[in-house]
Amino acid sequence: MKKIKMIYEGKAKKLFTTEEKDVLIQEFKDDATAFNAQKKGTIIGKGVVNNKISAIIFKYLQKHDIPTHFIKQLDERDMLIKTLEIIPIEVTIRNIVAGGMAKMLGLEEGIVLDEPVLEYHYKSDALDDPLINEYHVKALKLVTLKDLDEVKKLSFKINDLLKEFFSKRRLDLVDFKLEFGKYKGKILLGDEISPDTCRLWEEKTGKKLDKDRFRRDLGEIEEAYQEVLKRVIS
Ligand code: TMP
Repeated sequence: MKKIKMIYEGKAKKLFTTEEKDVLIQEFKDDATAFNAQKKGTIIGKGVVNNKISAIIFKYLQKHDIPTHFIKQLDERDMLIKTLEIIPIEVTIRNIVAGGMAKMLGLEEGIVLDEPVLEYHYKSDALDDPLINEYHVKALKLVTLKDLDEVKKLSFKINDLLKEFFSKRRLDLVDFKLEFGKYKGKILLGDEISPDTCRLWEEKTGKKLDKDRFRRDLGEIEEAYQEVLKRVIS
């Protein structure tokens, strides 16, 4: 399958059409942004690492009955995916307080939550992805409540599966962001799952092995991504 036309360029990925109508190529870039692209940079090798990590995780989730857009990995930076009609909601699940939740509620990072916290954010760069609830989803008709219920169920199941996956690799899954879309009437998990979209802390030391190293200028950014890949492969 080859790339025909670029139809979308986001902050970290490009999408290309292929000869098949319902199939796209998702290319992972080394570009990194934070704070809604106010901070920009490059993480060398990130695209290759995130493509590999995402492919492995999508395969793992599919094996455990999570429907995803992933078809197969094509090469170092490219994966073949099903064309989704994206639901304009970002789902965040949090197991440990960090980032946006710490800031919004004045909490210290690192508090382990008794139960996972799920958040919806309206996918809009112009509005800075504002936090919304089910009533906003309904009012704005972003998706039907039946579909939202399915998105929620899948998200919690994915959290259970990912927590176990990373825990076997001595990483704590602090939080992560998911995106879903519709394909032939069915809800599939889309986008990517990588250190760009998950917070991962080394179990014993608490060392951050994710994009927070870039967001917060912590150094050893490339090394952190490589370390996650090494553990995910093992
Ligand atoms: P937050 O604490 O900044 O809301 O981020 C929660 C999780 O979502 C974190 O693992 C990083 C991820 N995330 C994205 O994937 N994209 C984004 O644009 C943001 C803000 C967060």
